[in-house]
Parts: sequence; structure tokens; C-alpha cells
Amino acid sequence: MGDPLMDLLDAIGTKETIVCIGPGGVGKTTSAAAAGLLLAKNGRKVCVLTIDPARRLASALGLDQVGNEPVLASEEMPNYWVAMLDPKQTFDAMIARYSSSKAQEQEIVDNPVYRNLVTRLSGTQEYMAFERLWELRESQRFDTIVVDTPPAQAAIDFLHAPSRLAGFLDNRVFKFMLKPPPIYLRPIAMATRGLVKQIANVVGADVVNDTMNFFQAFSGIEDGFRQRALMTSELLASETTSYLLVSSPAPDALASGSRMVELLKGIGHEVDSVLINRMTPTYVLDPRDVNAPPQARDDLERLVRMRAREQAVIDEWGSGLSLQGWYLLEDLASDVSNLTVLNEVAEMMQRCALVPFREAE
Ligand SMILES: Nc1ncnc2c1ncn2[C@@H]1O[C@H](COP(=O)(O)OP(=O)(O)OP(=O)(O)O)[C@@H](O)[C@H]1O
Ligand SMILES: [Mg+2]
Repeated sequence: MGDPLMDLLDAIGTKETIVCIGPGGVGKTTSAAAAGLLLAKNGRKVCVLTIDPARRLASALGLDQVGNEPVLASEEMPNYWVAMLDPKQTFDAMIARYSSSKAQEQEIVDNPVYRNLVTRLSGTQEYMAFERLWELRESQRFDTIVVDTPPAQAAIDFLHAPSRLAGFLDNRVFKFMLKPPPIYLRPIAMATRGLVKQIANVVGADVVNDTMNFFQAFSGIEDGFRQRALMTSELLASETTSYLLVSSPAPDALASGSRMVELLKGIGHEVDSVLINRMTPTYVLDPRDVNAPPQARDDLERLVRMRAREQAVIDEWGSGLSLQGWYLLEDLASDVSNLTVLNEVAEMMQRCALVPFREAE
């Protein structure tokens, strides 16, 4: 966990991989992009791997036309690269890598089950994010890769992605049906045929045929996938990988954040830093401002109370975590939809000192 009183920049400054996790809509993509920018400004060569970013941030970062291949976000910053995950392209490349022949590759990618797997199986996008991360790490082109994670409920799913996909590909029922049974298993083979028929009656013969063809074509490739899943797990467990939990101060977001901390712990990783985004800013009333409207003091007091309430909720929440403190980003007056505002967020991050969790009174 390192020195508990480190600034955010110290905490993430020498990490090779930073994974931003957190509930939906709290600013994961923004934080990933801003953290990347901060590190790039401090001399690291950075790639931010975003997933499905808000459209305006995507265009601000020049990501409108961008896929898996990193591009420079701005000509003026040779250290700041961004890429947007293309799960299908990543999956296709993986199939190509592990197929033993062009024919096998073609048979798999043309199969409707594969096309469904790529677009619909929950966890595929997340799994591919890790795959792409691994490829980018392997290329040794970057000092740091900041990984954004997918929106909303998928944010929790992503932690289980590798095992879920591996589970699907390990599907024993289909494997059993595919293998020509040894002679002494004849009676069971008959039963299996009966089972195939029953399944076909329910889901349609085409679906069964496609699925069996898919697993047939896929045989031999799982080993490559499994091996890669192991290597990705090692990368994710490495000391050089840091987990940054992003949340808003809203109680439901924090509750969902705690669940993610627990889930992460369950698979052997610790959240290293907590970033609470969009805190109510601190305002001051300039007593010399003669134009301030009469209700200005009330407004100010309301905002101060709001901020204090957020702080109290966070302190209580933090008492359940094994972390010393948290980092704070304030809510900006505008959406983070261009590089100038993103730079403001990065500057806020540069000033982020650890705020210790206070004991509840
Ligand atoms: N500190 C901030 N001040 C003002 N607006 C912000 C701040 N941080 C994020 N936003 C805005 O909040 C919205 C959500 O941010 P973002 O897309 O980064 O969240 P997310 O966690 O990635 O969402 P999702 O879970 O949908 O992927 C965006 O419109 C972004 O510009
Ligand atoms: Mg996002």
C-alpha cells in the first residue's frame, strides 16, 4: 500500500499500469484521461486506454475515429497517447494469433456463435480490455498505461470477466457432445444424441449446429486463451499495477464502490487509492464584493453545509476500508469535454494531497 501520506502523483507516478474502477457515471473515463495527462506532463510516456468514453470527451481527445491503435491526443504533447478499445478487433486478433491455420481462423470468425460471443456475452468487452492492455504492455511503447473500465453495472462484472469467458469456452456439455465417444460409452452417446435433439427442439437446430461447429472449430485455441488469461492475471496482480477507485460522494456510489473493493480483494487485489470526484467546491465570499446579492451568504452557507455533509459521509465510509485516506477532485462548473478542461482536472490532480479519513465523532 506504500506511504499513507503520499500525494496522488507520488502514489501513481511510477506505476506501469493504473486501472480506474468505480460505479457508473462517476468520472472514471475523465479521471483516467486526466491521470494520464498529469503523468504525461510529468515526463512519463502514457497511453490511456478508454472504453466507450463520453462522446464529447472522445472528440476532444481525437478519439472519434480511433480504435485499438494509440494516437496522440494533441500534436503538442508527444507523451500523451490515447486509444479506444475495439473489442471485436481485439478478439479477432486473438483468434488469428492462436489459430493453427487461416482456415480455422476463418471458420471461427464466420460462425454466428462467435459473432454473438463478441458482441453479447457479458464480460467479453472487459476481457478484451485486459487483452489489449496486455498487448500494449508487451509492446513496451509506454511507461504507463491507464485503463478505464466500462460503464454502469458492467463495472462490477469486469472483475469476473476472465473466469467467465474461460468458463464459457470450457463448456463441458458441448465438449462431451463433440468428442467421438469411446466404444464402451455407446449407451451414453445415444443419450447424448437424445439430449442434442431435446436442445434443438428448444433453441432450434441451427443454433445447436452453429454452437457445435463453433466449439469444434475452437478446439485447440482454448489453451492459448487460457495461457493468456494467466499472464493477464499476473500483470494485474503485479506490484507495478495500481487500482484507483473513483467514486462520487453520493452514498449509493460509495456503497457500490465498497462492494468493488471487496470483490477486488476476493480475487487478490487491493485498491491502492481512492479518488472522490465532483465534491462540492469550497467557495469564499469576498466581503469587498459590493455587488453580491443579499442571499449570497445563505447560498454560501448552504454549499459549506453540503461539503461538510459529503465529508462526513466519506469519513464514515472510509472507516470500513483499510486505507489511510482519499484524494479529492471538485466538481467543475462545466462538463469535461475538451482538452482545456481536462487539463484543469489534471492540475487539480497535481495538487491532490491525501486527505486522512477522520474518526467519526
Ligand atoms: N470533476 C468534474 N467536474 C465536472 N464534470 C465532471 C467531472 N468529472 C466528470 N464530469 C462529467 O461527468 C460525466 C461523466 O463522466 P465520465 O464519462 O468520466 O464518467 P464514467 O464513470 O466514465 O461514466 P460511465 O460509467 O458511463 O463510463 C461527464 O459528462 C464528465 O464530463
Ligand atoms: Mg466511462
